[in-house]
Parts: sequence; structure tokens; C-alpha cells
Amino acid sequence: MVELIDSHAHLDFDKFNKDRDEVIERAKNNGIVNIVNVGSNLASSHRSLQLSQKYEMIYAVVGIHPHEAKHLDKNALKVLKDLSKADKVIGIGEIGLDFHYDNSPRDIQRDAFRKQLRLAKEVNLPVVVHSREADADTIKILKEEKMSNHNVLLHSYTGGKELAEKALDMGFYFGAGGIVTFNSASELKNIIQRTPLTHILLETDSPYLAPEPHRGKRNEPLYVKEVAKFIASLKNTNLESVAEITKENTERFFNIK
Ligand code: NI
Repeated sequence: MVELIDSHAHLDFDKFNKDRDEVIERAKNNGIVNIVNVGSNLASSHRSLQLSQKYEMIYAVVGIHPHEAKHLDKNALKVLKDLSKADKVIGIGEIGLDFHYDNSPRDIQRDAFRKQLRLAKEVNLPVVVHSREADADTIKILKEEKMSNHNVLLHSYTGGKELAEKALDMGFYFGAGGIVTFNSASELKNIIQRTPLTHILLETDSPYLAPEPHRGKRNEPLYVKEVAKFIASLKNTNLESVAEITKENTERFFNIK
């Protein structure tokens, strides 16, 4: 059986309250060897850590999503720093900019992004970046914060060509998930096609963004297999090599042993 890692999921969300164990079991029985559960605020960062303690295959990433940037005060930063030192916490995220929803004012988003990038450098953990309709600001901040020697993942990549080129120049990684499989995503398909497989991590972003042929349903880590199959066809290669290379990428990126 091919072995895959889901590098981005939110299994702590309510949508999994009824069948969380089964969802995890189903993934495990079908070759998903690790799941990275990503926090979006303090409560979900705590829950991510708890999941990583309960399930051997789960790792945790802690951070405050741009939607919740207004909640990143001094105390929250300290809590994140404490959480980051726990066993099985392997990254800071998801952090970044979301100018599509603008749920927090943009200046506050930029400030929270910078502060959490600095935290990641201080505690020496990779960062998981959420960037939506904010290409120019995202790359500007990552440059100004001198992140080029740091492991940076642009999760569920939806940016344009220009950001993709600059991000590759800086050695960043790209998260490919359900969106790549959508018919409408022709520019994204081109970008992923041109991005070396060594810089791609597979993800689901469960419960959101289920890939084809499950589009519209609740997403779950098992479906990372559909993403892998799609990337294989996009890059004219086979599922086995996509699985092997992206699994290695994820282990290297997050320093999972
Ligand atoms: Ni996410």
C-alpha cells in the first residue's frame, strides 16, 4: 500500500465530533501514516496538541489564523510559545493574511503574522502560512522577516504565478490540496505542474475543500489519496513516486523522524 501524509487537517473541529475515531482509523487503515493537525486559535491549538497526545499518528501545529489575528496579544503569544515546546508540536501555524474575508483589520493581520514568524524563528519551528488574495503583502513580509533560510509552507496554495516564482526562489514549499483537482483551477494547475515535486506537500485541509470526486462533501484525511493521484497525472508520473517524494518532503519540512 502507498504511504501518504496529510500535512494539513483540522480534525479538532466540531464537524468530526460524532466520528473522529472512525475518520482517523479509516485514514490509518488506508495508508495515511501521519496527519498534521493545524491550530487556528488558542483553543484549537490546545486541541491539536491533545489530539497529538491521544493518537500516535497525529502531530500538532499551533498558531493564530489571520481571521483571528485581533486575538494575538502578549498573553496569547506566550501561550503559543509554551505550547510550541510540547512534544509533537512540530510547527507554527496557520498564520498569515486573508484579504478575502478581512475578518481582522489588515494592519492587525500583518502585525500578528510578523509576530508569529518571529516566534517561529525563536523556537526554531517551521511555519504554515495561510495567504488568500494577499500575494504582495505575504511575500513582502516573508522577505522583510528574513524567512528565506527557514522552512515555510504556503498551505493550500491559491496565489498567482508571481508569488509562486518568488516563493520558489526563497526555497519555500507549496501545499497542494482539493482545489488543485477542481476544474476551474487552471492557473493553479499550471503552477503546480511547474513546481518541482521536491517542494510540494499534500494536504486535505479537512473538513474543507474536499477534492474531486468528493467535492462538496465533508473532507477527511483519507482523501489525500485523491490529491496524490491527481498530482501524479498532472506531472505524468505514478502514484507511488508522488507518495514517496511528498512523504519525504513532509518529514524533512517538519523534521518528523
Ligand atoms: Ni487550514
